[in-house]
Amino acid sequence: MTGTYQPDGTAPPALEVRDVTVRFAGLTALDGVGFTVEPGSVHALIGPNGAGKSTCFNVLSGVYRATSGSVRFGDAELTGLPPHRVAALGIARTFQNIALSPHLSVRDNLMLGRHRLTRAGFVAAGLRLPSARGEAARHSGRVAEIAAFAGLADLLDCPVGLLPYGVRKRVELARALCVEPRLLLLDEPVAGMNGGERRDMAGLIVAVRESLGISILLVEHDMGMVMRLADTVTVLDFGRRIATGPPERVQDDPEVVRAYLGAAARDSAGDAARGTAREAARETGRDRPRDGATGTAPGVASGGESA
Ligand SMILES: Nc1ncnc2c1ncn2[C@@H]1O[C@H](COP(=O)(O)OP(=O)(O)O)[C@@H](O)[C@H]1O
Ligand SMILES: [Mg+2]
Repeated sequence: MTGTYQPDGTAPPALEVRDVTVRFAGLTALDGVGFTVEPGSVHALIGPNGAGKSTCFNVLSGVYRATSGSVRFGDAELTGLPPHRVAALGIARTFQNIALSPHLSVRDNLMLGRHRLTRAGFVAAGLRLPSARGEAARHSGRVAEIAAFAGLADLLDCPVGLLPYGVRKRVELARALCVEPRLLLLDEPVAGMNGGERRDMAGLIVAVRESLGISILLVEHDMGMVMRLADTVTVLDFGRRIATGPPERVQDDPEVVRAYLGAAARDSAGDAARGTAREAARETGRDRPRDGATGTAPGVASGGESA
């Protein structure tokens, strides 16, 4: 990864989630949840399965509409905006399951990420007018910079479908960077990765934070990763916020320990509810290998030494 990719230099605004409630036919998935993602920080959203993390994510990206409450990004109110309007404010997301075009090259997948920023219309581009050619050259230069930043410079011409899982996840993050976001929403970026892939991804997230100054909201099961990367952690359980603060403090919060112990006990019919509280919390990070991955290493062994 290199440092050639430069942001435009303006600090992102804070993301303020206030008293957000989401109800689905009788079920309260989020119950008056609030937290603030400070400009340029990594904020982790964690909690046992079913806690409401994905629901919260979907509210922030405009996929779900909150029943009540408010989400502000600087001066903009996000609640009620459709996904493309949220994206236009500089909020980019990755998906829990990879959403790339496997037959297209890395370059073309990243160029699709630039789409929001393309000014020349389809007509000008189709007629190969000079304005469109100039713009395409600018975008492809930028795509090359971002690819280099994400350690993908040598893979630009490779079809995405031929790449290993961990690399495809980095392509997805690079594509999110291609919209020049000010806030990046990452949904379980290391799920299903092996140790080396986790280290690479953790390194990339640290680089995004340190050299680009972009705010990051991270939904993650891997507690080791969260503890190393996050400046602030918000913990959800059954749709309620049960803790928020620096990772060391949240990790030892009795209510958080209880929530994870309870979840571990539910998940494995009591087996995992042994050992120390921290171990139990990490136990719940060991779930769901995905998408051909060899399996998720216990959270304890992960997170990356570069983090
Ligand atoms: N579209 C939906 N319709 C009905 N219930 C939903 C929907 N999405 C999520 N839920 C419910 O809301 C709760 C929180 O789910 P979710 O946000 O996916 O949790 P997490 O991501 O923390 O595992 C769960 O009980 C889930 O079944
Ligand atoms: Mg989820």
